[in-house]
Amino acid sequence: MKRISDIDEMIRTCAAIRSEGKSIGLVPTMGALHDGHRSLLKIARGRCDILVTSIFVNPSQFGPNEDLAKYPRQIGKDCALCEAEGVDIVFMPLPNEMYVEDYSTWIKVDDVSAPLEGERRPGHFIGVATVVLKFFNIVTPNFAVFGQKDAQQLAVIRRMVRDLNVPVEIIAAPIVREEDGLAMSSRNIYLSTSERKSAPAIFRGLRAASRLFANGEFDASILCRRVRHELSSFEKLAIEYVSLADSLTMREQVNAGDGSLISIAVRTPESGTRLIDNVILGEIK
Ligand code: PAF
Repeated sequence: MKRISDIDEMIRTCAAIRSEGKSIGLVPTMGALHDGHRSLLKIARGRCDILVTSIFVNPSQFGPNEDLAKYPRQIGKDCALCEAEGVDIVFMPLPNEMYVEDYSTWIKVDDVSAPLEGERRPGHFIGVATVVLKFFNIVTPNFAVFGQKDAQQLAVIRRMVRDLNVPVEIIAAPIVREEDGLAMSSRNIYLSTSERKSAPAIFRGLRAASRLFANGEFDASILCRRVRHELSSFEKLAIEYVSLADSLTMREQVNAGDGSLISIAVRTPESGTRLIDNVILGEIK
């Protein structure tokens, strides 16, 4: 497995791979890899000649009061996991080379970026879309795999790729959960013991709403209320939103249909950890 930090070397290496007629799959990450990332790598590994993963804690997608400084960094462990999953190249650019001193070009995806995460984390999706497009330009992958856990991020990237005619196929990977249902996330390590115990209520709520939908309940307000009801067992939890929206446009819906997304963001009471999760209705019973 090769490790490359230099952007020009990465561009040259990927161009050479493509000129040999080989396909490239990309899994962009911010490191602190866990079994969720492992599943993205497995999906990508089976579909390409050369598997590239990027590990880059992207400063431009963190707000001023967010956890950029304390975001977990464990490069040795991450590289071992990548090697075990058959990654060919780990790309680890430096922040000051990705964003040179007078860096001035940003990608803003209107509409789909605006609600939910976009409203609570101003500028977040500008940072995400910009860094992802930079990776696409550097690596020139045939496809890239993103986790369904960041459902709005996926919708934003799909829209950007469509609008800017970027020749990269976007593949969504299902959410990987702990045995008790908590969605895997690099931020779960911030949870206190009691928060960790209560956190499965998030998925219980989403699953309960999904079951109601499967039994014929389409009213968005009733489905969202069902999620909130389950969360009442998690004392002092701050619910930022429970939303029922179209999974491609992220527009709120009054009535749910197959492909509607129920998503949720909460902040835990002790550690102040922000957790997000979602289900696509009709996909789980
Ligand atoms: O989902 C993530 O880990 C990040 O938002 C991404 C896509 C790697 C961009 O920094």
